[in-house]
Amino acid sequence: MEWRRGGYEISTDPERLDVERVWRFLRTSYWAANVPRDVVERSIAGSLVFGLYAPDGAQAGFARVVTDGVTFGWLADVFVLEPHRGQGLGVWLVECVLDHLREVPKLILGTADAHGLYARFGFEQPDPTRMMTRVALPEEVYGPLEEGS
Ligand SMILES: CC(C)(COP(=O)(O)OP(=O)(O)OC[C@H]1O[C@@H](n2cnc3c(N)ncnc32)[C@H](O)[C@@H]1OP(=O)(O)O)[C@@H](O)C(=O)NCCC(=O)NCCS
Repeated sequence: MEWRRGGYEISTDPERLDVERVWRFLRTSYWAANVPRDVVERSIAGSLVFGLYAPDGAQAGFARVVTDGVTFGWLADVFVLEPHRGQGLGVWLVECVLDHLREVPKLILGTADAHGLYARFGFEQPDPTRMMTRVALPEEVYGPLEEGS
């Protein structure tokens, strides 16, 4: 699938991804700090991916969904690279994800501070009496983020 807007493009083709660029962002993110490149590669292989591309074809953002395609999906690793932020691309990226998964009834995600981005699409706080999670801190799994990386 592909979507186009204002010269930007979103594609679900994993072959188009600049995996190096995706990894270089994710390893500095608060949710996957110091993630090894092979973990990113394997997570991409096991996910439905959404690559956001700038008019020159460069990677401008990314999102992925871990899903069975029918009942459930976990939206993860959503980002727009700094130079491309603040022009509606993050909202468009989530819009395209939801368009593609319109027949999947249950979607979840985790976020530290972007609740407002997702609330506009109907995401809300889960009922704590019905949800349980087990989430290790990235530094427990991948070690501390190295200085200057
Ligand atoms: C979050 C992010 C993807 C937004 O990308 P963007 O292209 O700049 O976003 P948009 O221009 O589409 O605007 C996002 C909208 O969500 C809102 N928003 C809510 N929480 C936000 C947050 N933490 N960061 C950015 N925008 C946020 C903005 O105010 C904006 O609303 P508006 O259109 O009413 O002004 C981008 O800032 C990013 O990559 N941040 C670092 C990674 C990250 O935190 N990802 C989300 C993990 S859950």
